[in-house]
Amino acid sequence: MAYTRVEIPSAELTRQRDICFDIRSGNERAGRAPLAYVDTYGCQQNEADSEELRGYIELMGFGFTADENEADLIVINTCAVRAHAEMRILGNVGALVHAKAKNPNLLVAVCGCMVQQPHMAEKLKQSFRVVDLVFGPHELWRFPELYKRARDTKKRVFAVEDSDGVVAEGLPVRRSGSVKAWLSIMYGCNNFCTYCIVPYVRGRERSRRFDDVVAEARSLVEAGYKDITLLGQNVNSYGRDLDEGRDFADLIRAINDIPGDFLIRFMTSHPRDATEKLFRTMAECEKCAKHIHLPVQSGSNRILKAMNRHYGREKYLEEVRTARELMPDIVLTTDIIVGFPGETRSDFDETLSLVREVGYDAMFTFIFSPREGTPAAKLPDPVSREEKQVWFDELVELSNSISGEKHAAYAGKTLRVLVDGETGRDGYNLSARTNGGRLVHLKGGAELIGRFINAKITGWNTWALYGEIQED
Ligand code: SAH
Ligand code: SF4
Ligand code: F3S
Repeated sequence: MAYTRVEIPSAELTRQRDICFDIRSGNERAGRAPLAYVDTYGCQQNEADSEELRGYIELMGFGFTADENEADLIVINTCAVRAHAEMRILGNVGALVHAKAKNPNLLVAVCGCMVQQPHMAEKLKQSFRVVDLVFGPHELWRFPELYKRARDTKKRVFAVEDSDGVVAEGLPVRRSGSVKAWLSIMYGCNNFCTYCIVPYVRGRERSRRFDDVVAEARSLVEAGYKDITLLGQNVNSYGRDLDEGRDFADLIRAINDIPGDFLIRFMTSHPRDATEKLFRTMAECEKCAKHIHLPVQSGSNRILKAMNRHYGREKYLEEVRTARELMPDIVLTTDIIVGFPGETRSDFDETLSLVREVGYDAMFTFIFSPREGTPAAKLPDPVSREEKQVWFDELVELSNSISGEKHAAYAGKTLRVLVDGETGRDGYNLSARTNGGRLVHLKGGAELIGRFINAKITGWNTWALYGEIQED
């Protein structure tokens, strides 16, 4: 697949920052600190993008609010992966007419994956007059310029041209947490799974340079972050588009070498490219969390082929075996699609049997959602929605019972966990994560947030563990 890497020149990014400073001094002259609300849908990649948008918005001199009626700027960062997400987003965008009626100066921007689809950009243009600015993922780096144009011209701005995508280094970031951080290591996807919209809206696969990623990881560790998640649609192909001769396993090792007590997580791993080298590296790197999210999508070879996944059930199970041989306690999670066009009950039974055989700690399950422009959306789909729902419920029940068993096995064990926040509830007021990423509720003081502590597991349910803090 021919793709010429496009890196945004630093002079361009400086120009964007200068626009931010201009806007900021304008706001200061007017003697007011405007407020912004950034709402995010979709995956962690989108969360990471929103942190960059907030970085720009902060430079512009805005404060932040979670109340849309208070906001002078609302940015909705959208997802297109399933119809359900899009319906919710459109409903919420439509409802902004009320906020706009109260504050005619409110500027509404909609960005992200959903608007990168031409039919959706058109829909916003025709039927959602409340929206002032629309820009796709490829334009995020020039948000300040787009915002200023929409604000100053009072004309609607649409920046959604199709593109293979760019790499922009050094955007400002305003991170949402102080314990856990997202770190995008690559963008886009080349896999074109037949059901998936992501490659169409996120462009071609492109990796950030090795040294840039390691430098950002180092600065996160120095800033006190304890849990760093490396993000990409398929992290296992990291580096393939660069001429640096280093792969994802090398990247984990380099980050593992950064001094400090912290955890390295990553997602998502495509089973087609998961190598023994990766598992070995995970096992050898003491800071790498022993968790792998390895989306299988289906247990039927026939369906995997139709999905264009490039692996079969046997190869997948072999990978799971290798991972468990090297890391006996590894936590395994997955994604599964139920009701892919043409899937039969016997294909679905193969999914159930694979799930039983692997025994996932947790699963994310979805009913197939046809995405306009993808090959699977054109396939005959004879199984009714009701039938798919029955299969789906069966799968969820199986998954819950396995998760319950896995959690029960933690009872009485003492684990090293990272306290990452407050639950907002009385009683079990703290939340923590095990090395493998399982949620643990604890009772304790807020000063423990950001610390690794030992916890003895005393209770559990399908979704979480409950524990008591052990004094050292
Ligand atoms: N890059 C990741 C997945 C990103 S999308 C990977 O390859 O694993 C997250 C999950 O959404 C996918 O794993 C898949 O299970 C689900 N998904 C994607 N497209 C879908 C569709 N059209 N209908 C239903 N589920 C879908
Ligand atoms: Fe979508 Fe497949 Fe790419 Fe994941 S690997 S983002 S499922 S096309
Ligand atoms: Fe959604 Fe885009 Fe992520 S489609 S899942 S927000 S890459």
